[in-house]
Amino acid sequence: MLSRPDFHALIKENRVHSSLYYDERVFQEELENIWYKTWVYVGHVSEVPKKNDYVTKAIGPTPILMVHDRHGNISLLQNKCPHRGNQLCAYQKGNRTSFTCPYHAWTFANSGELVGLAFPDGYEGVDKSEFSLGKVPRIAIYRGLVFGSFAKEGPSLEEHLGDAKRALDQMLDNSPEGELELTAGFLQHRTKANWKFVLENETDGYHPGSVHGSIFQVASSPVPALYKPESLALTRDYGNGHTEFDLRPQWRHVGKPMYWFNTTAEKLPLYTEAMKKAYGEQRSQEIMIDGSPHIMIFPNLFIAEIQMFVIQPVSVNETIQHVTALQFKGAPDFNRRLRQQTMGSVGPAGFLLADDTEMYERNHRGALINNPEWIVLTRGEKRETRDEDGHRIGHSTDEVTQRGIWRHYLKLMTEQA
Ligand code: FES
Ligand SMILES: [Fe+2]
Repeated sequence: MLSRPDFHALIKENRVHSSLYYDERVFQEELENIWYKTWVYVGHVSEVPKKNDYVTKAIGPTPILMVHDRHGNISLLQNKCPHRGNQLCAYQKGNRTSFTCPYHAWTFANSGELVGLAFPDGYEGVDKSEFSLGKVPRIAIYRGLVFGSFAKEGPSLEEHLGDAKRALDQMLDNSPEGELELTAGFLQHRTKANWKFVLENETDGYHPGSVHGSIFQVASSPVPALYKPESLALTRDYGNGHTEFDLRPQWRHVGKPMYWFNTTAEKLPLYTEAMKKAYGEQRSQEIMIDGSPHIMIFPNLFIAEIQMFVIQPVSVNETIQHVTALQFKGAPDFNRRLRQQTMGSVGPAGFLLADDTEMYERNHRGALINNPEWIVLTRGEKRETRDEDGHRIGHSTDEVTQRGIWRHYLKLMTEQA
């Protein structure tokens, strides 16, 4: 049997060993200690609004059915037939009261119970209740965001989210009704790179000036200024692996509603009116100045102001990013622009995601080269401070977030070792 990697030897406070990105043993340990243990984001309730709606999702490499079942509950079922293991459902979404396995036609209620067998006369005395679909043992929903955990016991979702919940609330405040409505559909971007390169990049403020320099040059936008030495934006480590690129100090300094979205309140009259009605004059102004957050909820939910990304590791060297435009309930004029900007930045011909994906694959190729062995995360180490809640913060280009991710990762990988 292969020995377990020594995570204490591979992860230091300000550097990590390259093998963490390509060692198959590391990936297997991650499945056990992260993906099949902690809370993982699965989907949003608005993707299954009606009874009997379902969508196919995943927790790590494991396919999952997220179902609004016949009893009205949201449940997470494993997409595997308990007879001989066939993949039960191959569609992305639909509406059905039951699922029939294509192999020998066992049929399951959408709440998981076996309800019918082909040629039942060979199964005399069989207790059907023994052959229900596998369920994800724990499910929890935070303001419509559905998370699952394969661990029967452990911290609650609220405990896991900790203070990072603040950023999710900030996002949801952008809806006059305080809710998301994910109706734009998902794009899937596959990259030949380890999932942690994606995770670490999501709140990396050091790369945009170089990697996205070409789009910054042609698009007039307030975004490039966030990544310059004089930026007021902050990097923050919320603990539990959650990291943020906090744009609010920069937007507050400018103090103009919707500036963060590169527009003005006047250009979105319906939205501005709806926000005023919902939150009052002053609070709606504050919300529209702060905008939507840039937050990475460990290990797989990334809100990039206007989009949601869901990171899915497929294998040690392959990752899928599922991406959709955020759509805010009660905000049709805003939503139209959110979809357009999402297509322009992370659509099939989008500018931003292609740049980042090139970096992920180059990162992965670089990790395989054995000298130097270590990846350096020292930037801003000496100027790290704490915010009023005690969370580590740093300059927008500092590696506070990467160090935070690895600190939590080390804890998860060594907790029971
Ligand atoms: S494998 Fe599903 S019915 Fe046989
Ligand atoms: Fe980027």
